[in-house]
Amino acid sequence: MHTRLCDTFGIEFPIFAFSHCRDVVAAVSKAGGFGVLGALAFTPEQLEIELAWIDAHVDGKPYGVDVVMPAKYEGSEQGGVTKEALEGMITERHRDFVKQLLARFEVPALPEGEKIESLLGWSDAGGRGHVEVALHHPIKLLVNALGPPPKDVIDQAHARGVKVAALVGTVAQALKQVAAGVDIIVAQGTEAGGHTGEIGTMVLVPDVVDAVHPVPVLAAGGIGCGRQIAASLALGADGVWTGSIWLAVKESDSEPVLVEKMLRASSTDTVRSRSLSGKPARQLKTPWTEAWDGKESPGTLPMPLQFMLTAEAQTRIHRYAHTEGSRAGELLGTPVGQIVGRMKTVRSSRDVIYSMVEEYVDVVERLADPSTK
Ligand SMILES: Cc1cc2nc3c(=O)[nH]c(=O)nc-3n(C[C@H](O)[C@H](O)[C@H](O)COP(=O)(O)O)c2cc1C
Repeated sequence: MHTRLCDTFGIEFPIFAFSHCRDVVAAVSKAGGFGVLGALAFTPEQLEIELAWIDAHVDGKPYGVDVVMPAKYEGSEQGGVTKEALEGMITERHRDFVKQLLARFEVPALPEGEKIESLLGWSDAGGRGHVEVALHHPIKLLVNALGPPPKDVIDQAHARGVKVAALVGTVAQALKQVAAGVDIIVAQGTEAGGHTGEIGTMVLVPDVVDAVHPVPVLAAGGIGCGRQIAASLALGADGVWTGSIWLAVKESDSEPVLVEKMLRASSTDTVRSRSLSGKPARQLKTPWTEAWDGKESPGTLPMPLQFMLTAEAQTRIHRYAHTEGSRAGELLGTPVGQIVGRMKTVRSSRDVIYSMVEEYVDVVERLADPSTK
């Protein structure tokens, strides 16, 4: 499984793992892969704490940080607008829809006076706060989603010897990223959890590999076992980028009710929905996604308005998912990809990496000698 990215980063296996959970990031890097912490859910101050923890627990192994700096979002073309102006773009009909949905599922209100930060990382400014913090830690990779990172951010990363990667869902997006100076392209197929396009991994990866050659490409979307890694390398990728599979590992902080839902789900139980962020993101099908797709729905709002509209609701759903007398747990979902159908037991991160490697070795041997089938 040795590829040039193993040499670039000094890693044993070119298996990259995206997770919001620092324990998973450290565990994957220590097992020979490459953990990448998703910064979106953190304030810059919280991110500082998470990265200091990783530095203390990763045994000097390389890791990275993923930020979200969308190239385009509501108001971005006017040079960014104030939070108040953005709030004013959300209609009463939308606010009522959310209120009624929560009431129907008996989701308690937050304690009086508690405020939810509803803009977080979904903007250029939010992403920059994360970059600033991340570059003061010994990270080896900075990753951006939803468009090319600004040139000055790429330059700052390069000046510190940090490689830059970016997620894409089409060849055109990949070419833009390469033109912007990105070092590694993550070609993410529609199977993936989270924001995702319409083209399947099987079709996207070889197209992107050919278009950006010799820039290295990581295959993403629907990768959770050694056979899928072997297929990715056969398609021309230099490694794999995984996300969903880490949601149900021992080190993950996913809520128990969510882990149970994922272990029960099949590959047909996800949907691409705009109901979390305003851009299509694959996630578990729940009464929440169904309501937004239903007849009564006012329709979703563009990024970042949909997240602003629903941030408090999502906090309440998470917080009260296990509260007796509330049906919040039914509404609880998560971005997750079609690979969820293969997530059947809770394993340690190390176990996941080692079983991927073992299966990869088996399949490569089998391909070399079909008589061993
Ligand atoms: C819960 C979850 C949250 C995600 N959030 C982000 C994110 O904030 N930034 C990002 O670049 N990718 C995000 N992704 C996408 C992953 O980086 C990755 O591309 C994707 O999970 C790969 O496909 P897979 O889910 O089939 O493994 C997320 C994925 C999941 C499952």
